[in-house]
Amino acid sequence: MKHFLTETDFDQNEIIEVFEHASRFKKNRENRPDSALSGQSWGMLFYKNSTRTRISFEVGIRELGANPLIIDQSSTQIRRGESIEDTARVLSRYLDGLIIRTHGHDIIEEFARHSSIPVVNALTDFLHPCQIYADCMTILEKTGQGLNPFEGLRGKKLAFFGDTSCNMANSWILAGALFGIEVHLAGPADFQPRPEIKEFCQARGLPETWRHTQDPNEASRDADVIYTDVWVSMGCEEQEHDRLLQMEPFRVTAETLAGAKENCLFMHCMPAHPGEEVAQEVLHTPQAILFDQAENRLHMQKSILRKISHFEKDA
Ligand code: CP
Repeated sequence: MKHFLTETDFDQNEIIEVFEHASRFKKNRENRPDSALSGQSWGMLFYKNSTRTRISFEVGIRELGANPLIIDQSSTQIRRGESIEDTARVLSRYLDGLIIRTHGHDIIEEFARHSSIPVVNALTDFLHPCQIYADCMTILEKTGQGLNPFEGLRGKKLAFFGDTSCNMANSWILAGALFGIEVHLAGPADFQPRPEIKEFCQARGLPETWRHTQDPNEASRDADVIYTDVWVSMGCEEQEHDRLLQMEPFRVTAETLAGAKENCLFMHCMPAHPGEEVAQEVLHTPQAILFDQAENRLHMQKSILRKISHFEKDA
């Protein structure tokens, strides 16, 4: 059984194929529906709010010829204490695959352990692998570096600003290690990457291609990409005051971009909060490629689902 819970769940050849096929899906979108998931039913179990992920998966599943079922966790018996094991085993009897957005990464791992259908990570508090693959595809497109992330992203410098302990920072640490990207994390001392991501990389023999700094200028200097995410992630609302205060020096502004390479890209996984993690003016520069990132979620996720379902056919 093949699941996609982390960026490292595909091997190098599989990643190259997934990126190539995502690009093919994008070019040939008029030829839908594709038959990759023809006649299947895919569940989308969401414990947390979403705009891009939920809608891009729903549209993508339909475009692959399958039927998406959106399941709000609060409307299921999980909310009333039914175990993940029983839920996973029951859903496996109805569905061909399950996409999950949840809190702890242990929850999705437990679903995967007890599912006899593929499970796909649509964000946990630890990682956001679908977002990262789509973002890497977007950087390749914008820099004209081909479709292979192992070749096209090697040696690039990405500066991540703000909450450097969040799932997106973790996912960039992982993408950096996989693709040879120098990842510079600029954020407050209290919000540094947690030991879990270091242990995850060490356990897989991945190199450390990142460093943390509290100096925003050092991070942005000569960067190819400046990236940020919300300062108050879902589930952290109680820490809002402290977070806004500590992260203030790490807002991405026009000055931040001016310190980077001339053609530096500005990226944000959205939703954006202008005036908090990013200045309004930055969102309107030609360097800002947020909407291309959001669009590529659709094409990349279709490619991930196609690849996962191929494993099923080959098994
Ligand atoms: N970037 C992202 O995951 O957006 P949503 O929370 O809207 O799904």
